[in-house]
Amino acid sequence: MRYPMEPYRIKVIESIADTTPDERRRILEEAGFNLFAVSADKVTIDLLTDSGTSAMSDRQWAGLMVGDESYAGSRNYYHFEETVREIFGYKYVIPAHQGRVAENLLFSTVVGKGSFVPNNIHFDTTRANVEHNFGRAVDCVIDAALHPTADHPFKGNMDLRKLEALIRERGAENIPLCLMTITNNSGGGQPVSMENIKSTRKLLDQYNIPLYFDACRFAENCYFIKKREAGYENRSMLSIAREIFSYGDGCTMSAKKDGLVNIGGFLCSNNHDLATSITNLLILVEGFPTYGGLAGRDLEAIAIGLKEVLDERYLESRISQVRCLGEELDSRGVPILKPPGGHAIYLDARAFLPHIPQEQFPAQALACALYLEGGIRGVEIGGLMFGHKDPATGKEVFPELEMVRLAVPRRVYTSAHIEFVAETICSVFRDRDAIRGYEIVYEAPVLRHFTARMRPIDG
Ligand code: F0G
Repeated sequence: MRYPMEPYRIKVIESIADTTPDERRRILEEAGFNLFAVSADKVTIDLLTDSGTSAMSDRQWAGLMVGDESYAGSRNYYHFEETVREIFGYKYVIPAHQGRVAENLLFSTVVGKGSFVPNNIHFDTTRANVEHNFGRAVDCVIDAALHPTADHPFKGNMDLRKLEALIRERGAENIPLCLMTITNNSGGGQPVSMENIKSTRKLLDQYNIPLYFDACRFAENCYFIKKREAGYENRSMLSIAREIFSYGDGCTMSAKKDGLVNIGGFLCSNNHDLATSITNLLILVEGFPTYGGLAGRDLEAIAIGLKEVLDERYLESRISQVRCLGEELDSRGVPILKPPGGHAIYLDARAFLPHIPQEQFPAQALACALYLEGGIRGVEIGGLMFGHKDPATGKEVFPELEMVRLAVPRRVYTSAHIEFVAETICSVFRDRDAIRGYEIVYEAPVLRHFTARMRPIDG
């Protein structure tokens, strides 16, 4: 059997929409050929994101019932704090309602005009929060990460030469901190090796620059280290996590990923003064420090989820499910970003649809085709999301890559669902020559992909 067995059984179920091809065509037309505008109950398999879409366990649901909703000093906060300290090891633990708020609190405190913040690759909200505070977000990932088919066990690694060149060019005093995203979402969910984390820390020490982790998918990164890095074969997930975080000064975390919950996040730091300033800001924008924009019951669910996510049997099944999907597509000639990442498979739309020029949004065309064929919703990461008009020439500038991300929610879909996804993609691939490009009918001035309306070219 190729697909892994899920190490859990199902106690509560949720029905899946049953739509016909004709209905899907009408729904997509009404949505302006934008999958963000399709209502979720018209989606068969929803791979739009792995964020906030996890299925909670019976223990987490039971945890909700022991939620203590006291304004100050909720017992769930103490359980949450103790769990975060045990895994992450940092002194100060500040709850927030999701990852980007943790980013906002951190960057609005340390980033200003003239600041530079390096990262392997900044996730969109991270970059936006740095730039909103007038800093510059700089990506320093290794070159292999930029090539869809380049095979590398740790394609999320930081390029230390790029990082050091940035520090020398811009001055350490202008770099308030360096980030490291584990796993590297924008580079395909690729892991960072322990060796690379250690060397990054060593380099930053020479310049007295703190290291913070964007830790959303830390457990998936730990699993890759155990499987791919010499010396970690017999280590527990918890001990690998503790070692990773021991090389940092703090982290931001969206618990909507490896916290196995539907809402929540936090920020950690070892720096007393920084934690004090951030806590004061937290009270202004999120809430009292023992709830930070969350209900007590949510903090309880995070505390339990953070332990469950480090169960190696769970991680084995999770990562193998994504890997099997990738390997099956690859073996049938479908072009994907390689190797498969921890949380998602990325289809290379330019290679999939070579007859559609980039001006006609091949990744959007592919995302629409997957919905029409099998009700599968992925997300376009290409010209629609990242293309923009050059202010000087008025011409459209396109990004390097045209991808469709298929992010797999945690503990939600069985192997049979994933096999259905693979079959649907292969069937779209067989008939790919019939797929047409798209043009934009309406676009907002910023973040246009969320609300754009499109239409197929030639009808
Ligand atoms: N950092 C990374 C690496 C992320 O992937 C995300 C969210 C965030 C920060 C922000 O966290 O959503 O809780 O505010 N990624 C989601 C995704 C949205 O679909 O990849 P948030």
